[in-house]
Amino acid sequence: MSEPRWDPAELEARFAQVRAHTEALAKPLSPEDQTVQTMPDVSPTKWHRAHVTWFFETFLLAEVEPGFAPFQDQYWFLFNSYYEAVGPRYTRAERGAITRPGAHDVGLYRQNVDARVRDLISTLDDGTLDKLGSTIELGFHHEQQHQELLLMDIKHVLSVNPLRPVYAGSPSPRSEPDQMGWIDVEGGLVEVGHEGSGFSFDNELPRHRTWLEPYRIADRLVTNGEWMEFMADGGYQRHELWLSDGWAKVTGEQWRSPFYWRDDDGVWSEHTLHGTHPVDPGLPVTHVSHYEADAYATWRGMRLPTEPEWEHAVVADGTPPAADGAPSLHATAAGPATGHLRQVHGDAWQWTSSAYLPYPGFSAPDGAIGEYNGKFMSGQMVLRGGSALTPPGHARHTYRNFFPAGARWPMTGVRLADGGVRA
Ligand SMILES: [Fe+2]
Repeated sequence: MSEPRWDPAELEARFAQVRAHTEALAKPLSPEDQTVQTMPDVSPTKWHRAHVTWFFETFLLAEVEPGFAPFQDQYWFLFNSYYEAVGPRYTRAERGAITRPGAHDVGLYRQNVDARVRDLISTLDDGTLDKLGSTIELGFHHEQQHQELLLMDIKHVLSVNPLRPVYAGSPSPRSEPDQMGWIDVEGGLVEVGHEGSGFSFDNELPRHRTWLEPYRIADRLVTNGEWMEFMADGGYQRHELWLSDGWAKVTGEQWRSPFYWRDDDGVWSEHTLHGTHPVDPGLPVTHVSHYEADAYATWRGMRLPTEPEWEHAVVADGTPPAADGAPSLHATAAGPATGHLRQVHGDAWQWTSSAYLPYPGFSAPDGAIGEYNGKFMSGQMVLRGGSALTPPGHARHTYRNFFPAGARWPMTGVRLADGGVRA
């Protein structure tokens, strides 16, 4: 007889850990901090705390809890993000207009659902657990995704405040950048995509073969100092470096530096969760769009890696899994060369030149949960790696993050590639 796939005690422990981490991230924030929405892409902190709770209530409790009733009827409307199959929902761009429930009331909602989920997990029979275990696990990873969004979003909220508030911590000491090194990769017929019995999102499947011409990939991310050279050479003024849609952004929105940089009387400073500080040339450049990453690569006479190139290089180089420690909140310096890839998971998501498309043979699951990833496979670019905002243990070598090419508020950076065949 085979071992049951899910251990209730382990699921309860992971549930407690994930839920507690969200609350720890919100702890430095006042109820007012948690209410503001500074642009349509940003959601208020309390909305994230409530929405991830709604996810467990909708996809777990409503399915199997005896005598289920929602904690509050209207919460179903307020905290549904994008699930058409679940019903109508409140306008995303106006989440910041909602003052009630307040941050304290959202805490009560969380406590209620926490207790009910714990009760449910401890009383489910093996058959039901077998059916629902993967939904519970998806709820953990979903909440972790929102933990990163919570930090991305509060970073923007604090950035518009002229008091330049600090979320937490302090910047790392300045460090001297070393030369960018290169890893040569043979390519050939390779396999990419998730394998094994561990968790993955549906978009990492199925594992499949693909052909790669020989290429090389940078051993670290592009630094702020290197980005300043691009700026000094007219990078934001030279149309020939830019994709057409990117140039429209540069001219239409007056881009002239990375998103969180500002010119303080001739000195560039950068807003971070640690506060606003002079730009450190040794740190990776962050908060640049795909358009900017592509223009920078073009300026260097290089290109961005494709997503299979990125994944194959990371696996072939023997990169260890993402670290389990607390996120550092801002990208750190690469440190001395090691002969291996550096800054893979913990600093900044790396733009690839690959559009976010289904893998060959992909099919979304049935029902509302099938809306999780598949319906977004249009008009977005893939990012790989992980960032200084990614929660512990969340990133994977096969993880496919995605954002529109103009997005600048995620913690994004640039890893260059060269050689091979441009996709
Ligand atoms: Fe969500």
